Amino acid sequence: MKLAVVSAVILVVVFAAWPVSAGGYGHKEEEDDDTKSWFPLDNLLSLNYYDKSCQNFEKIVDTKVREWTKTDPSLGPALLRLLFHDCGVTGCDASVLLDYEGSERRSPASKTLRGFELIDDIKSEMEKACPKLVSCADILAAASRSATYQLGGPYWPNAYGRRDSINSYARDAEKVPSGRRDITGLLETFQSYGLNVLDLVVLSGAHTIGKAYCGTIQSRLYNFNATQGTDPSIDPKFADYLRRKCRWASETVYLDVETPVVFDNQYYINLQKNMGVLTTDQELVKDPRTAPLVKAFAEQPAQMFRHQFAVSMAKLVNVGVITAEDRTGEIRRVCSKSNSRPY
Ligand code: HEM
Repeated sequence: MKLAVVSAVILVVVFAAWPVSAGGYGHKEEEDDDTKSWFPLDNLLSLNYYDKSCQNFEKIVDTKVREWTKTDPSLGPALLRLLFHDCGVTGCDASVLLDYEGSERRSPASKTLRGFELIDDIKSEMEKACPKLVSCADILAAASRSATYQLGGPYWPNAYGRRDSINSYARDAEKVPSGRRDITGLLETFQSYGLNVLDLVVLSGAHTIGKAYCGTIQSRLYNFNATQGTDPSIDPKFADYLRRKCRWASETVYLDVETPVVFDNQYYINLQKNMGVLTTDQELVKDPRTAPLVKAFAEQPAQMFRHQFAVSMAKLVNVGVITAEDRTGEIRRVCSKSNSRPY
């Protein structure tokens, strides 16, 4: 009970302190000096990094994202997930985009990631407009926000100036939590990113959009704890629905079955009804460290979640960045290949 009150207070304080309107995309207010002073971790990156060197940077990204998602709307959620998998492994350094034998992208943990061709297309356009200036890590951060915003999601301020990694290793891809990790494991992983329990609960809310492969949840449906049964924590009617949808591992199911393409707080409402698709989603309502936050997001207006999501995303996109000061990294010419590696 005490924890519930504390969590609600945290949410209210954070909500009140967040000055950017969710509808503020591309508006001038975001570039005010005021904005710069409250932006978290802005000592490394800069909100106006490309203002002089590549003024059309975000415009090029937005246009390409719009073109591609018009043809394939499922690329929007895919880009948001791709960014998480980039930032979750050695930081937001585009390591997930490198494509060679033994790279993160070739690991089984990355098998269902998508959106690479869209990033490559943005990069080749960018090389025409601003050659050798814009990193793939910045492009991924911008494209992911653009896709989320174009889907009706919230806006968050993106600072730029990331450099790209030179290497990536398949074994590191396992650092991004799978759908079967327990809450202690998730909290430890998020702590290693410098993120807290509120960030964990709110960023899991990204599952208000997008899909999971049935293969990801089949053990939950057909072989829970090696019993050949279904996870008893799933609502029985919902379990029936999932079993009907998931006859084959290659099929997909929405992560928020009620409002799958709306960026709202329905995900948390579903969790309270035992309608979480992934084990890690459902665990959030069972654990006393996360349950009060799920309850608060389910019960408060959706705007509370959307604002807090933007706050936590602004933190996520700063995780482990490489900047010019680090004297490592590079601006890749092609996002799937390092300039410095012989292929
Ligand atoms: C808290 C730990 C998290 C776990 C364990 C997790 C796990 C997963 C899993 C297993 C899938 C389905 C993948 C598949 O079946 O191929 C998925 C999908 C997705 N995840 Fe997460 N995720 C987490 C956090 C996040 C975060 C922080 C974000 C973004 C901020 C995110 C965004 C997404 C999106 C948008 C999808 C749908 C992708 C699509 O439709 O292509 N996830 N996640």
